[in-house]
Amino acid sequence: MRAAGFPYLRAMEELLQKIREYEAEISSYTATSAESAEAFRIKYLGTKGLLKTVMGEMKTVPNERKREFGQVLNEFKQLTEKKYEELKNIQGTNGHQAAPEMDFSLPGDLLPVGTRHPISLIRNRIVSIFQRLGFAVAEGPEIEDDWHNFTALNMLENHPARDMQDTFYIHQQPDWLLRTHTSNVQIRELEKGHLPIRVICPGRVYRNETISARAHCFFHQVEGLYVDENVSFADLKQTLYFFAQEMYGKDVKPRFRPSYFPFTEPSAEMDISCFICGGKGCSVCKHTGWVEILGCGMVHPKLLENCGIDSSKYTGYAFGLGIERSAMLKYQMNDLRLFSENDLRFLKQFTATY
Ligand code: PHE
Repeated sequence: MRAAGFPYLRAMEELLQKIREYEAEISSYTATSAESAEAFRIKYLGTKGLLKTVMGEMKTVPNERKREFGQVLNEFKQLTEKKYEELKNIQGTNGHQAAPEMDFSLPGDLLPVGTRHPISLIRNRIVSIFQRLGFAVAEGPEIEDDWHNFTALNMLENHPARDMQDTFYIHQQPDWLLRTHTSNVQIRELEKGHLPIRVICPGRVYRNETISARAHCFFHQVEGLYVDENVSFADLKQTLYFFAQEMYGKDVKPRFRPSYFPFTEPSAEMDISCFICGGKGCSVCKHTGWVEILGCGMVHPKLLENCGIDSSKYTGYAFGLGIERSAMLKYQMNDLRLFSENDLRFLKQFTATY
């Protein structure tokens, strides 16, 4: 008759043998980093670790040997835990874990650095030149009413100058429109009535134009306004001459041509001698030797009166220039659409701080 426990006995011997092998493996385990000590913990002491698996074998052990097996298990557990404590201590002192091994001589990861949009660069440059002359930055709304964009600027309802600028009107509210120029900020500042006024107003403007290399349905302008007692056309010329030299170089010469804007009287357009060819004639100045850079004039007394300012006491000048146009001159570009296409090959070329 076979011994009833025979198959169990064999299994039991095999189990004990396995445990002895594990003990040898654990005793010779070496760890050189915090990661390998942690790997040890997971492998032997973790919730799915070897200790748990071996303990699970208790149920397969015949009752008469459970006591003996329990002791073996206990020793196995103590050995494993002791080893883990040792490994942890090798890794650091005072219970702190050492940093994982690092090579501090490796070059860092290169983070891609963005560049400023050329429109921002030129706007900042224009604004900072006028800030140095004491101009403060002012802003106004892009969605504007007829009064601030046209009527108060002396462009009355049937004034032909309204046709100079094709306007986007807001469908639901015919009195509202997308401003066609930054000159609306002139009215908003005059209405505030804090005199003297000396502001520079950068912003986006909109016109109902077919998009081409030379025209776009939105673009950017900078408006300037100076109102005080005794402001003269000489002040206007000197300020704008200073601006042109700071912007395009000390050698440029100014030229003022009579022009017409309903909100300035007299009005002028300012040209500078071509800063590319020095006035000899090239493709940038279309072989004239001159390039137009802005519109300007003395604030029309009508505007002051519209805003409750005494036009017999105060005078002022105003000017407006296109940022895209300035950027195209500065960077010698010939297509306005590049500014709004977000082509990284184009944008990445502008790393300069101006
Ligand atoms: N608002 C004019 C334009 O859009 C420019 C300008 C501003 C002219 C101020 C004179 C004075 O063309």
